[in-house]
Amino acid sequence: MVEGKVVVVTGAGGGIGRDFALALAAEGAKVVVNDLGTSTHGEGASAGPAQQVVQEIKAAGGEAVASTDSVAEAASAARIVQCALDHFGRVDGIVNNAGILRDRFFHKMSVDEWDAVIKVHLYGSYHVSRAAANHFKEQESGAYVHMTSTSGLVGNFGQANYAAAKLALVGLSKSIALDMQKFNVRSNCIAPFAWSRMIGSIPTDTPEQQARVDKIKQMTPAKIAPLAVYLLSDAARAVTAQVFAVRNNEIFLMSQPRPLRSVQRSDGWTPQQIAEHAMPALRASFVPLDRSADVFSWDPV
Ligand SMILES: NC(=O)c1ccc[n+]([C@@H]2O[C@H](COP(=O)([O-])OP(=O)(O)OC[C@H]3O[C@@H](n4cnc5c(N)ncnc54)[C@H](O)[C@@H]3O)[C@@H](O)[C@H]2O)c1
Repeated sequence: MVEGKVVVVTGAGGGIGRDFALALAAEGAKVVVNDLGTSTHGEGASAGPAQQVVQEIKAAGGEAVASTDSVAEAASAARIVQCALDHFGRVDGIVNNAGILRDRFFHKMSVDEWDAVIKVHLYGSYHVSRAAANHFKEQESGAYVHMTSTSGLVGNFGQANYAAAKLALVGLSKSIALDMQKFNVRSNCIAPFAWSRMIGSIPTDTPEQQARVDKIKQMTPAKIAPLAVYLLSDAARAVTAQVFAVRNNEIFLMSQPRPLRSVQRSDGWTPQQIAEHAMPALRASFVPLDRSADVFSWDPV
């Protein structure tokens, strides 16, 4: 599907990104396996994970190069894209997958916890995307895949930093799709559900939490990869600005905000009229204060 394409996968030293890199290489892509080799909280660094995935790809007869720069700063993110140009002479696809978590209830979240997560997910995806954008424009082709999350699309406890970043990526993706459509550049999001070390940080203090984690364990990262490979291929030339979710053998097309219902008065509104007329009329379409698990409430297929 992606024979000869050069694809950068960030955070590809483990979890979902590793399976993206393996699947892309198996389908003929030359892969930049980027990973800082950091902890789930973003502490420390190691070249080991990226190099190990490169070895796996080479052992299977594929082509790959390791990159251990961080996505979180402009200069190092530019080096990740440069790595593709230096080794393979071009870049055709970017998968913004690197990520960390610093979960905390909002009323206890520190500036550092907010910053660290926004920097890796939102700034990181911006920096890497931006570094590739000029090349995509010049060659009049390119595809972005950004990893979002139902934590942002729907909601979860204790993830204000992560949810804000992940929903922002949907806006980033849509903007890239609009701005770069004239250069045949596409941009889509995937909200994955998969058992990885990142999910390993979900607390299992109550039987309800334990049951939720047991359910997630059935979903392997490899199940996400086929959609990413497809979105990076020419077969997806008509697919852009979409948000998908993947959960085991299920693929979802997610909705994007559009007006649900409207009210109008020809002479305008007072706050009291809003209370008495507008809200009762709109209330029937209110979106409930639910969490990801409330919406994806059935066992993965
Ligand atoms: N696992 C899930 O169910 C799930 C759900 C929703 C979204 N996601 C998203 O999918 C992506 C992959 O998550 P995962 O579950 O495989 O987690 P993971 O922790 O296994 O993988 C993330 C990788 O990113 C790397 N990384 C972190 N900071 C980096 C940086 N600054 N520069 C380069 N690499 C960096 C880490 O070293 C790690 O190998 C993330 O964006 C995550 O938010 C995962």
